Amino acid sequence: MINEIKHPIIQNKLALIRRKDTPSKDFRAAVEEIAAFLTYEVARDFALREIEIETPLTRCKAKILADDFIIVPILRAGLAMVSGALKILPDAAVGHIGLVRDETTHKPIEYYKKLPNLAGKKVLVVDPMLATGGSSAAALQMLKDSGAEDITFICIISAPEGINFITREHPDIPIYTAAIDDHLNENCYIVPGLGDAGDRIFDTL
Ligand code: PRP
Ligand code: URA
Repeated sequence: MINEIKHPIIQNKLALIRRKDTPSKDFRAAVEEIAAFLTYEVARDFALREIEIETPLTRCKAKILADDFIIVPILRAGLAMVSGALKILPDAAVGHIGLVRDETTHKPIEYYKKLPNLAGKKVLVVDPMLATGGSSAAALQMLKDSGAEDITFICIISAPEGINFITREHPDIPIYTAAIDDHLNENCYIVPGLGDAGDRIFDTL
């Protein structure tokens, strides 16, 4: 269920967002692009359905995406991935889940939830960072409790600890990530990582 996407173009963008002196505007743009590439990879297995269309010359059969999609960013950092995912799936609806890690316990605190009807839809959860896995596990549970049956989690950088946690808590959820890093430090930050994704995206350091 773990898909580490090691495409050279993604790796090249990863180097940019990992660098500590990359300005917010370049960081945001790269996060958006990586999100688009990861969504494209997720879409490899999407079902198609056949329709009949008319070209300027004749009628013919064509294939279109069979499903409806919902993109759900985990606020705040996940917001920067929405525009990238929408480039690949422009007809998707967007739900929002607001979670923030408590600075001492590192456990997620829920502060917002606004979701469309999830039944029968393919749900893509986006968040750049999978550290302890507490936030993503909580978001996945909120989505399941709200009726989602088909969920994929897309993140940019993950820690082995978070992957193990999600695999244990939500073994049914595929994870797509651009990198599996080494470990978490004593503050539960990913090492080498990129620091605080939300602060770097929104320039709130
Ligand atoms: C970050 C990140 C994830 C979470 C990952 O969000 O965007 O949501 O931490 O950590 P975890 O796997 O240990 O839960 P943060 O709580 O810093 O909120 P923000 O996006 O508002 O900055
Ligand atoms: N949240 C982040 O933004 N970065 C980390 O390394 C861990 C959690």
